[in-house]
Amino acid sequence: MALLNFSQPALDATTLAAATDTMKSGWIASGPRVIEFERALSATFGGRPTRTLTSATGAMELALLACGVKPGDEVITSTQSFFSTMNMIVKVGARPVFVDCDLVTRAIDLDQVTAAITPRTKAIVPTHFPGALGDMDALYALARRHHLRVIEDAALVQGSTWNGQPIGSFGDIATFSFHPNKNMTTIEGGAIVVPDEVTARRIEVLRFHGIERLADDTRDVAVASGKYNMSDVSAAIGLAQLAQLPAFLAQRQRLAERYFEVFPAIDGAVLPPRGVPGQSWNMFCVLLPFDALGTTRQAFRAALREREIATGLSYEPSHLTTLGRSLGWREGQFPNAERIGRETVTIPLHCGMNEADVDRVCAAIADIIT
Ligand SMILES: Cc1ncc(COP(=O)(O)O)c(C=O)c1O
Repeated sequence: MALLNFSQPALDATTLAAATDTMKSGWIASGPRVIEFERALSATFGGRPTRTLTSATGAMELALLACGVKPGDEVITSTQSFFSTMNMIVKVGARPVFVDCDLVTRAIDLDQVTAAITPRTKAIVPTHFPGALGDMDALYALARRHHLRVIEDAALVQGSTWNGQPIGSFGDIATFSFHPNKNMTTIEGGAIVVPDEVTARRIEVLRFHGIERLADDTRDVAVASGKYNMSDVSAAIGLAQLAQLPAFLAQRQRLAERYFEVFPAIDGAVLPPRGVPGQSWNMFCVLLPFDALGTTRQAFRAALREREIATGLSYEPSHLTTLGRSLGWREGQFPNAERIGRETVTIPLHCGMNEADVDRVCAAIADIIT
């Protein structure tokens, strides 16, 4: 039996042809395909200024810089996120101020955000998860009241909507990932959606060495920056994938619904939110009470792996990493994120699967648990 990955890109013939055509075109680094891809992406974000980058991690770093976050500033963020969120806050010299999340939706806890605001707070960085968003109206009302910037880590939710509006089409800044395990891919890649063209121009400068062109056609650098520009080959892949995104999202939605139908009844298990309209399903994470089940997560994952089913971990709480602890954070501060960190397992969900694969995963889980 072939291994069922927990994530896998959907690289069809159109995507492969787009890549090879661009490779033969004579222009493979940033060029016309990047511009075309950014226009197409922007159209999905209500026409808001959109720029591509080599990753969502880079997008987060440049977003923080574009917001003027600097050493000594504080950025409030959920400890339940991928490590890149914490890392980029630390990388720009700011202090990550962690708060907890909801156990089921994993949305950032807005009461804790409010309590964490100080005169040094510059921005709030929430991370969105598949299946449900936090209350975006309340988040933006809070940010407005305290004059704070918001950078939405939307790496996992390209295609999710709030009140019918796609994430990225409203609000302040949003960052997206096109890593192979996301809703669509450019191999590695990411995008940033910003509120205005001035900020978009700033991102263009920051993503390419900090280079600015002068009126006399020479170049200048005022701020030392790195290199985060997407290649035309990646952009061509992205264009082919974007055209299929609605079909990818629909397939993911069908698979998630099948999980809800056939996932075995386990006392104390926590499944993602079901039935929230307009959501996307990048991954399907379940919490399982391993202690009560008399096993460990490691043994459970190994038993699935023996049955040719791969799983992931999304995510360990950032505040309990060595880096988080070195900044003064400790166990017991954020019970929901810590429980998620102990009990979460990401089970397979990708467009290469069908409902029979979901049934196989659920049967294997039932078999191992009993
Ligand atoms: C929530 C979240 N944010 C950011 C990232 C970083 O994305 P990238 O690999 O494109 O840098 C990831 C990647 O897994 C993620 O899951």
